[in-house]
Amino acid sequence: MAFDFIATALDKRRSEGLLRSHNTVNSAAGQMIEIDGQHYINFSSNDYLAMRRSSLVSQAWIDGISEYGAGSGASPLVTGYTNAHQALEEYLASELKRDKVLLFNSGFAANQAICQALFSKGVFSQSHAHNEDVIIADKLMHASFIEGAQVSNAKLMRFKHNNTEHLHMLLDANGTQKKTNTLVATEGVFSMDGDQAPLYTMVTMSKQADAWLMIDDAHGFGALGKNGRGVIETHNLSQQQVPILMATFGKAIGTAGAFVAGSHDFIDYLINFARHYIYSTAMPAAQAYATLISLQAKQCSERRSILAQRIEQFKWLAQKAGLILMPSNTAIQPLVIGDAKKALAASEKLKLLGLWVTAIRYPTVPKYTDRLRITLTAGHEIRDIEALVDGLQIVLHASKDIK
Ligand SMILES: Cc1ncc(COP(=O)(O)O)c(C=O)c1O
Repeated sequence: MAFDFIATALDKRRSEGLLRSHNTVNSAAGQMIEIDGQHYINFSSNDYLAMRRSSLVSQAWIDGISEYGAGSGASPLVTGYTNAHQALEEYLASELKRDKVLLFNSGFAANQAICQALFSKGVFSQSHAHNEDVIIADKLMHASFIEGAQVSNAKLMRFKHNNTEHLHMLLDANGTQKKTNTLVATEGVFSMDGDQAPLYTMVTMSKQADAWLMIDDAHGFGALGKNGRGVIETHNLSQQQVPILMATFGKAIGTAGAFVAGSHDFIDYLINFARHYIYSTAMPAAQAYATLISLQAKQCSERRSILAQRIEQFKWLAQKAGLILMPSNTAIQPLVIGDAKKALAASEKLKLLGLWVTAIRYPTVPKYTDRLRITLTAGHEIRDIEALVDGLQIVLHASKDIK
């Protein structure tokens, strides 16, 4: 029968405790969500600064719709690019001290576009990619980048997570044939582990090897740095040191979409050769406008301080409760369970206590590292954090099966 692998694949996932399905959120207010008539404190949102529902950003989106309409009506190189898109790009370029910025509909599309435009030989793309080009990426980089790299014409090599000795070895092995183009790629803050890349060492190594360094700062942008400009700001990194910066708006900024920042030539090259950009309807202008208002919002700075306090409070209470956390100082605080079914069971038990903590399982994370991925936000009160730690203690310590 045609496509009979579909049912087999679903059955396999079901039997391994790895099947995915939706949880329909009926309403959300502050840190609370309502699913199937039950109310939970939400510890599974990337809305780190609680900007998603702020009246400022919501009103800006409404104002943007009044001004520009609901959709953009065309791809950006036809008639979908407005002065709202331009204003957002120019603001980002100036804040991040990059020559130029380009908006994408999602971080997924942006990562794929970078790999495709730089490393694919297509009918349309005039890329100079040849088979010796190399992408050297951290083992834990997001699927949107890794899968883009896998289908490109570059050779993909992956270094052990945050292991600069291994990166050095791979650069050494490749970097000597100087006809090749090498891209070193990492995340500012790792999406599933919450730890940060050793950026200073990576900058030096990439420079020595004449490679470009790319940072995906989806989880650092907005949340880290005095001005919320992410790891570029916390490490004071220039465009020369990090030629490609990608970050998203769907997390700390509270809207949706993404951008890539870099040199004039690199961004002009993407405008001309990145299929995900050229052949896709532009993000609504209202979204670009709301995103700009969110980026400029004065309350973000105060919310970053609250978030930092919540992270400290959680780590301290969790340590006191004997919970074993990963080495993360960010809003992403994973508790590794090591087994998909047990991680799901723990998540279900937490739900009974009114705590929503999603179990993240293979293949989103490596095998045997299935986990509860706790995300903290500025919307959480200290009592929410206390309730979470109490709940984790009850659920994890009560069960001998679960660490
Ligand atoms: C590190 C990282 N990069 C890229 C993306 C994709 O971004 P978007 O949700 O905007 O597609 C995500 C997650 O969503 C992510 O965690």
